[in-house]
Amino acid sequence: MAKVVFSGIQPSGNLHIGNYLGAVRHWAKGQDDGLNIFCVVDMHAITVEQDPKVLRENTLSTAAFLLAAGIDQEKSILFVQSMNADHANGGWIANCNISMGQMSRMTQFKDKSEGKQFVNVGLFDYPALMAADIILYSTTHVPIGDDQKQHVELARDVAERFNSRYGETFLLPEPVVGETGARIMSLVDPEKKMSKSDPNTSASVFLFDEPDVVRKKIMSAVTDSGAEVKASPEKPGITNLLSIHSEFAETSMEDSERQMQGLSYGDFKSKVADIVVEKLKPIQEKYAQIRGDDNKLLETLRGGAKKAQEISHKKLTEVYDKIGFVS
Ligand code: TYM
Repeated sequence: MAKVVFSGIQPSGNLHIGNYLGAVRHWAKGQDDGLNIFCVVDMHAITVEQDPKVLRENTLSTAAFLLAAGIDQEKSILFVQSMNADHANGGWIANCNISMGQMSRMTQFKDKSEGKQFVNVGLFDYPALMAADIILYSTTHVPIGDDQKQHVELARDVAERFNSRYGETFLLPEPVVGETGARIMSLVDPEKKMSKSDPNTSASVFLFDEPDVVRKKIMSAVTDSGAEVKASPEKPGITNLLSIHSEFAETSMEDSERQMQGLSYGDFKSKVADIVVEKLKPIQEKYAQIRGDDNKLLETLRGGAKKAQEISHKKLTEVYDKIGFVS
């Protein structure tokens, strides 16, 4: 079976090192193996209110960031979700193959809807669209951070249900969650994951943060009252910083721990800040270069959407036929 990798990211001006370490870095690394498809999921983004101007800018900036972080449009397909209408159509089919009970068990909805006055059906239903994103490409592997695993499992269930009703049609995708980096935590509350929607900007290192801002955030990251730089469940802040270090330095947690042995918390944090600044620099430089020509960027995305649609459309046509839609 041919390897097909699909993953998506919501357009945001607040992409952070969790998005990079938990997902995008793995996407960039895996591009020489199989067919790789990456999507900026703007249709998912409108499950919460979006200013049109900001959405447009964030879509371009997220796509540019993916290219800057190493997604190569010669090797992989990169496109924007709304450029391929098959996703919306497939999302409806997915909807009709998920029970209310199953959808109600999606934990992210509870977090995302909490405290909101107006919660639209799309926010509840979002995993159906995500299932379509994945299964329309006969995806075998879905590289994601830990928080998206439940959604990929739902995509498997949709594929299975459809196959049992209409005959073998969809492959069952596997979630691929890195052993480390899959859950980068907030710098302010290391019991919570680093999140784009966290109103406290000190909680996340954003990919576009200037070096002095990165340093300031990491130097003031919450740790504990101890003195030993060691990963342990009692030291979630130190563990998080060690995992950020080991991911950026591409070493194991144990190696990072060894390198930091005997350092004060202050010196340790300073080393973590050094590596984050060093690794973000080339991404930020390349990003600026790509954004110098938005027309070229749009051309790349349109080209990607065309290639994506060639694949998804074949699958959707098969699906329509099996369901009994006339054409
Ligand atoms: P999104 O845009 O929230 O996040 C993009 C990727 O970043 C990962 N991530 C993290 N990893 C480690 N630590 C963190 N603190 C952290 N925060 C986010 C996410 O797990 C994700 O892999 N629903 C998806 C987008 C999507 C998708 C898809 C993904 C839509 N369709 C199809 C895969 C396949 C989302 O909102 O990701």
